[in-house]
Amino acid sequence: MKKRIDIYRNTNQYVNDAIDRIIVGIHLKKQKGGYKMIMFSGCEPGVGTTTISISLAISMANTGWKTILIDGDLRKMAKYKRLNLGAETGLSEFLSNKCSYDEIIYDTNHDNLSYISSGRGASNPVSLLCSARMEELIEKLNEGYDYIVIDMPSVTTSIDANVLANKVDGIILVSAYAKTDKTSIRESKDILTSSGGNIMGIILNKMEASTYGNILKNFDYYKNQRYVSKRTRSKAKYS
Ligand SMILES: Nc1ncnc2c1ncn2[C@@H]1O[C@H](COP(=O)(O)OP(=O)(O)O)[C@@H](O)[C@H]1O
Ligand SMILES: [Mg+2]
Repeated sequence: MKKRIDIYRNTNQYVNDAIDRIIVGIHLKKQKGGYKMIMFSGCEPGVGTTTISISLAISMANTGWKTILIDGDLRKMAKYKRLNLGAETGLSEFLSNKCSYDEIIYDTNHDNLSYISSGRGASNPVSLLCSARMEELIEKLNEGYDYIVIDMPSVTTSIDANVLANKVDGIILVSAYAKTDKTSIRESKDILTSSGGNIMGIILNKMEASTYGNILKNFDYYKNQRYVSKRTRSKAKYS
């Protein structure tokens, strides 16, 4: 029997608040434009693209949408991957015709969330991502899921995200607050749009909690003890 992959949700309230806001943005865009297959790529490596893809896929699935998360990084060695353990057969094997579609779909510990790992990796990622087999996979995934989240390497480290740019419905670019400069955000955006990609938005990740709190002043209104006690006091006054 196929193993189940455990994927853990981030418990940080700042991260989860930000994720909720992104989910709302995606849902609104989905209603308007029918977005289904969304690719995540970073302006540079290490900005948190994989972390965000995982969190968003979990949130989409928890909302009740049938979701699949795909690790599209065929270059990073399996031993450095977070979720490859127990899911050795994945994208690279399917694209090289070594296994069937059913063999690469893994269940997870979340209802409505399936997972495709990158597999054992490939020496020719570009030709695999360009292949007819990739088109076949996209067609099958579109039939089977409400949301397809593809986690790709950053735009600056390889051309792989570019290859899929016009095959997906939308792209979310990830950058790191106070680390990724404006030029590199603009360049990444230009690279993907010139390949026919549709940028849905840009995420500023790795923001200090205090900065996040300053920008979105009441984001923790329902959880912050300071506000809870204030609400309880004023309720007592009027009852
Ligand atoms: N918002 C965040 N705050 C702090 N650390 C983060 C955040 N997002 C990601 N990280 C950390 O940054 C590192 C790189 O993240 P990862 O998702 O692998 O980036 P990428 O896929 O863009 O290379 C990981 O150690 C991850 O835990
Ligand atoms: Mg990554």
